[in-house]
Amino acid sequence: MASSSLGHLLGLLRVRVVRGVNLAVRDVRSSDPYVVLKMGKQKLKTRIIRKNVNPEWHEDLTFSVDDPTLPIKLSVFDHDTFTLDDNMGDAEFDIKPFVEAARMPFEGIPDGTIIRKLEPNRQNCLAEESCIVWYDGKVVQNMTLRLRNVECGEVELQLQWINLHGSKLIWRMLDIAMPHCGGICICPCYLFMTLSLSLSTTVSNALQRQSHTEFLLATQATHGEALESN
Ligand SMILES: *[C@@H]1O[C@H](CO)[C@@H](O)[C@H](O)[C@H]1NC(C)=O
Repeated sequence: MASSSLGHLLGLLRVRVVRGVNLAVRDVRSSDPYVVLKMGKQKLKTRIIRKNVNPEWHEDLTFSVDDPTLPIKLSVFDHDTFTLDDNMGDAEFDIKPFVEAARMPFEGIPDGTIIRKLEPNRQNCLAEESCIVWYDGKVVQNMTLRLRNVECGEVELQLQWINLHGSKLIWRMLDIAMPHCGGICICPCYLFMTLSLSLSTTVSNALQRQSHTEFLLATQATHGEALESN
């Protein structure tokens, strides 16, 4: 193990950045917003949406989680071609309640069951109540964050969890890798290779340099784990 934290990789957290609502105007009449999410050293971004203060990203950003006490920090920026990108507010949220719920065995409970409710308060950035729900065979959490350090704006997110144990792993990881590897046919004997390659290319593009190697190592460690448990 290159780092002791790699031994404790808990799973992957997929954050769907759904939309921004009533974001701040930073150019003449509108803004070209994008979202940056940071957790520890990992940093992921959405694409830029031109001239829209109510952008719909519907974009999935996936973090590897080894320390659920680290919050996720979200920032919104206005893309400017010739000058530095302007700040359009920030927020942060804890992933611990979600990670705890997601790692419990809920198979078999009715769809729509509310596992936990989180209320907005002075310490968090929730704009409204956020529920952790068992939905369509998974634990999901929708949340609306009110942006700070800006005159207005909210961002809607959905959290999903990808466990790294058991045989489901391979298929869930393929689910991440597949949309990005186009028409490449994945044959079982190349599964391991394809997984490593497509994960490293898709995910590393989005991750910051320093977390890149960590993620690759983590992914390889995970493969080992999956093969052992199968
Ligand atoms: C969560 O948000 C998504 C996207 O807005 C929506 O389609 C879904 O129905 C919501 N799920 C729950 C359980 O509220």
